[in-house]
Amino acid sequence: MKALVLSGGTGSRLRPITYSMPKQLIPIAGKPVLRHVLENIRELGVMDIGIVTGARDRHITAALGDGSDLGVRLTYLPQEQPLGLAHCVALGREFLGAEDFVLYLGDNVLPEGVGALAAEFAARRPAAQLVVQKVADPRRFGVAELDAGGAVVRVTEKPDRPRSDLALVGVYFFTAAVHRAVAAIAPGPRGELEITDAVQWLITAGAEVRAGEYGGFWRDTGRVEDVLACNRRLLEGIRPAVAGTVDAASRLTGPVVVEAGARVTGSRIEGPALIGAGTVVEDSRIGPYTSLGRDCVLRRAGLEDSVTLDGVTIDRVGGLYGSLIGRAARIGPGDGRRRLVVGDDCRVEVAA
Ligand code: G1P
Repeated sequence: MKALVLSGGTGSRLRPITYSMPKQLIPIAGKPVLRHVLENIRELGVMDIGIVTGARDRHITAALGDGSDLGVRLTYLPQEQPLGLAHCVALGREFLGAEDFVLYLGDNVLPEGVGALAAEFAARRPAAQLVVQKVADPRRFGVAELDAGGAVVRVTEKPDRPRSDLALVGVYFFTAAVHRAVAAIAPGPRGELEITDAVQWLITAGAEVRAGEYGGFWRDTGRVEDVLACNRRLLEGIRPAVAGTVDAASRLTGPVVVEAGARVTGSRIEGPALIGAGTVVEDSRIGPYTSLGRDCVLRRAGLEDSVTLDGVTIDRVGGLYGSLIGRAARIGPGDGRRRLVVGDDCRVEVAA
């Protein structure tokens, strides 16, 4: 089996962060989303992975290289324009050859993994095996209708009036039968070749399409709230480890990771929390549920339920929560008055 990971898209709901990096590289619990995805795929025993990249492909190649540090082989497949998930499969046609494959959306976080569902697919080899989960509002997703035996009878992309509460998770198992479907469909209402339409084509053509329910935590990291929810969930699983230095005046509670070269003085770190390599935390209150990037400086700062990327400075600003702070951003009192230098589409929420 091979894997095709989709890592294009514009990430419009995660601006301004996505002006300078693809959303799949936003760190969750200290690691890009895409690394979590690749680790899940490796756990399936799949080592040959094609990655479809968009406009920011060089960021992704710089972050992942040839995959050897992860123990996988990566093949990059640049997509000129975001023309849809099924278009990505067409683009991967040559790489995939006649093999079965798992199509995995590079912004989907599933910490419990999809091992059981992959085994089900391998045992039965339907043309397609979808992964589904019950959600409160399925209108944001592809929606599957199943018969009593677990066969999929219909799939609809983002229906106004969903006929079931089973959303399509961004992980799909296919045999090579899908390539004929992908070649046969036309772009949908949003102008894209929808994978949902390719699956529906298979159903209509009489091919076997099945679905397995994933019962674990699942989010796609489309919005800030999702990034923070994933960060909370993945931080819960971290193994506490202190490689950096923590002085006697500091107090660590709960699972806390202090990476190499990080320095914590006079601070209270409430786990789960992760302090990135080379980061300095002084007289601050961090956590719970907070990941700090590398080489940040926090002085007399207070930050909980948040993610900072690398090189962030927070100086004498407390009470911050629910924040996603981009690379090298500086937050502090400056000359004591209120002054903002914020990029396009930033969100600054301050008390009146
Ligand atoms: C895509 C699929 C949708 C699926 C979702 C899961 O939507 O088209 O069927 O439910 O991923 O993340 P998109 O994120 O492209 O809107």
